[in-house]
Amino acid sequence: MGIYGIRSTLKTPGQIIFGSNTVDELGDIAKSLGNRVCLVYGGKSIFKSGTYDRVISVLKKQSLTVEEVGGVTHDPDEILVKEMVKKVADKDPDVIIGVGGGSTLDVAKAVAILLTNGGEVADYWAGKKFEKPSIPYIAVPTTSGTGSEATNNAVISSRDKKFKKSIRSPYMLPKVALVDPTLTLSMPPDVTASTGLDALIQNLEAHTSKNAGPITDTLALKGIELAGKFLIRAYENPEDLDAREAMSLVSLFGGITLVNAGLGLAHGLSHPLGIKFGIPHGKACAIVMAKVIEYNYPARKEKYDEVGKLLAGIPDAVEAFKRLTNKLNISTKLSDYGVKEEDIPYIIEYSKGGSRNYNPIPHDDETVARMLKELL
Ligand SMILES: [Fe+2]
Repeated sequence: MGIYGIRSTLKTPGQIIFGSNTVDELGDIAKSLGNRVCLVYGGKSIFKSGTYDRVISVLKKQSLTVEEVGGVTHDPDEILVKEMVKKVADKDPDVIIGVGGGSTLDVAKAVAILLTNGGEVADYWAGKKFEKPSIPYIAVPTTSGTGSEATNNAVISSRDKKFKKSIRSPYMLPKVALVDPTLTLSMPPDVTASTGLDALIQNLEAHTSKNAGPITDTLALKGIELAGKFLIRAYENPEDLDAREAMSLVSLFGGITLVNAGLGLAHGLSHPLGIKFGIPHGKACAIVMAKVIEYNYPARKEKYDEVGKLLAGIPDAVEAFKRLTNKLNISTKLSDYGVKEEDIPYIIEYSKGGSRNYNPIPHDDETVARMLKELL
């Protein structure tokens, strides 16, 4: 089967438009999909940054009927999604546009598919399949992290704050991903650090996953290289557009590669750490990443050595990763976030399935418990 020995896929949004100021094209794109548009967004930052005014003005230029539903929160739960479905249904849109960070893009994506298929998030958590395409959905990210603009899933938290779980379908791939790095210029440094680490780690875990292949590896390696060059720069200089452009690509590549290759143990563990201890997603992944690399190293030596070189010029990915989190002022001690030894069984239980299935080396509860203990 050739030098790679496995198959490789490339499922992507219908169209990807990348570049500074491409948001100016949003009206044209929306118009090609319908006349009634519903904008879905989160909280205040879209107003403060000027993005709301920019988006509304390009849509109105096309004489579209523009409705809007705001109020998506971080770590959205199934009840919020249900409320959003009802509010958006009342607007009867032809097209849904999500503008915001990963949570907002995920909720808008979930709403677009639930509107055509019916039912609730919990039905699909339980295994129900989406049978119909969603309402055409345009994803416009204002952070560079989750890559939601390119993924076929939405991560939803449970109202009882026990778990985070995706709903997923090929029908959930956005019709258009419009990635305009100028929309990320207003991200504060702590958000740049956390989202940027998520983007990097998605490329990294996809690159070393059991399902990694030649197509995804090409994108993932470029994503890791760009993060190595530009994440610190974007963190230290929020207005640096070159760095913002690079990190928007890292996010996009992370989204594409995770859909096609899967992730790994760091992502599996990040969900219970996020929901129970309130740790932002990218930070939660970063806390456990070096330990996961140490564990996985025997199965992916060459790849990790290359990652070390791309991140810090040294063939040691564990050390390179530690240097990166240090520079971003992120503690990788779980106890600094309120995690205690007695929490370990909970973390293990709610990290199972999903991303962990793609980790390059299998791992039992005992192994994961030992890793978490070493991180306390
Ligand atoms: Fe992630």
